Amino acid sequence: MQTEKHLTGTLILSVFTAVLGFFQYGYSLGVINAPQKVIEAHYGHVLGIVPPDRHATNASGDTEGTLPPPTDPATSPHILTMYWSLSVSVFAIGGMVSSFTVGWIGDRLGRVKAMLVVNVLSIAGNLLMGLAKFGPSHILIISGRAVTGLYCGLSSGLVPMYVSEVSPTALRGALGTLHQLAIVTGILISQVLGLDFLLGNDEMWPLLLGLSGVAALLQFFLLLLCPESPRYLYIKLGKVEEAKKNLKRLRGNCDPMKEIEEMEMEKQEAASEKKVSIGQLFTSSKYRQAVIVALMVQISQQFSGINAIFYYSTNIFERAEVDQPVYATIGVGVVNTVFTVISVFLVEKTGRRSLFLAGLMGMLVSAVAMTVGLVLLSQFAWMSYVSMVAIFLFVIFFEVGPGPIPWFIVAELFSQGPRPAAIAVAGFCNWACNFIVGMCFQYIADLCGPYVFAVFAGLLLLFFLFAYFKVPETKGKSFEEIAAVFRRKKLSAKAMTELQDLRRSEEA
Ligand code: GLC
Repeated sequence: MQTEKHLTGTLILSVFTAVLGFFQYGYSLGVINAPQKVIEAHYGHVLGIVPPDRHATNASGDTEGTLPPPTDPATSPHILTMYWSLSVSVFAIGGMVSSFTVGWIGDRLGRVKAMLVVNVLSIAGNLLMGLAKFGPSHILIISGRAVTGLYCGLSSGLVPMYVSEVSPTALRGALGTLHQLAIVTGILISQVLGLDFLLGNDEMWPLLLGLSGVAALLQFFLLLLCPESPRYLYIKLGKVEEAKKNLKRLRGNCDPMKEIEEMEMEKQEAASEKKVSIGQLFTSSKYRQAVIVALMVQISQQFSGINAIFYYSTNIFERAEVDQPVYATIGVGVVNTVFTVISVFLVEKTGRRSLFLAGLMGMLVSAVAMTVGLVLLSQFAWMSYVSMVAIFLFVIFFEVGPGPIPWFIVAELFSQGPRPAAIAVAGFCNWACNFIVGMCFQYIADLCGPYVFAVFAGLLLLFFLFAYFKVPETKGKSFEEIAAVFRRKKLSAKAMTELQDLRRSEEA
């Protein structure tokens, strides 16, 4: 048993290299937050538009270092909001489009080669952003973020696929949670580098935006040293000897036969179960309950409003009149990282369902507190602290459950046949909701003013109720057991309707 848990150098290198993809995802998510005003001022300059009032100063709160005033003050600042919202959210459109092709590319090229090839997208996207000052910056940033999004959509499918395949069973859970950890580390580093005295200033912002290209280059070269997934070689290509050789590299000196036997079983299982298409996933009543749950956990994760914080927290802190908004944003990143580490341990101890529910409820209460803080701000100055603490708690509760769980629960809800289709659909749904939040938040914030988080509180209540009634516990359960839970739910729902029909006919 001890040898099965053995962490070899090759395994550490392979997992580290792969999750560099998730690191880039986090970096791209967070990087757009702190330099909003500096870049908006630049857009304003290029387009001849006056930035909206709230963006009149630079990240540190003074006007020094910003560009000269735009030439045509009459042009509507709404165009600027539109360009900025698009710069933020187009990243998710890229992710949405490419997440569908993950299974195809991963099977066609192999996991390692696929990760290598898609890195080209990241390098290209980062170059576009890094060179933004030399051309129409808004166009270059929007296209750069779209291309980086394409990369992140692919890597958000390929990386978990590879990591779960190279990890020994005993370490699969722990290594799986590294995805969320890599994301939050990426967010945090981008926030720190976004400080105005580092890279978040008028001079350096192109470098700030393009810097995750360095991680892409690093990943590119390290991938050349990583072994292809033995499972892919054995199950998809039937290359037994190569699979054994790679397994030995990953596991050190231990005997590969036990795992090879396991792969043989998986291969037979996969052969006996027909691959389910996306269309069948929606039309067959067998999968309906599980599909609804898989989609709803993604919708809950994104429509909880979490990325409103990660895309726009500096701006939100400013509205809440917090003194040092950029530092508060970094505080959010630190808290986010610490609690992700804590949740790595919690997820294996407590069930997924209870953590998901507790997280949603905590977020709901925090969103209400945030609203109270913002609404009463004009009467009590100390309310800005209430809003700030509420934002921190909002993030903490997110990382307890709604953050990490959707990333791996979909694979637990479906067996071999429908799994690839389910992962593609869930990934698409996650990115689509991410896009909607990124695109619409500023408009909703302008429309609702201090009540903006009340909208998320309402949604969180709905998600809590859904999860309470519909999301099963999956920890330690086999696919058969989970399928049986869904069957029971369906049967009891059917029995209820029959009972009601019977009552109605008796009354008549
Ligand atoms: C999850 C979400 C991602 C979010 C992050 C914040 O990974 O999928 O959209 O930004 O958590 O930690």
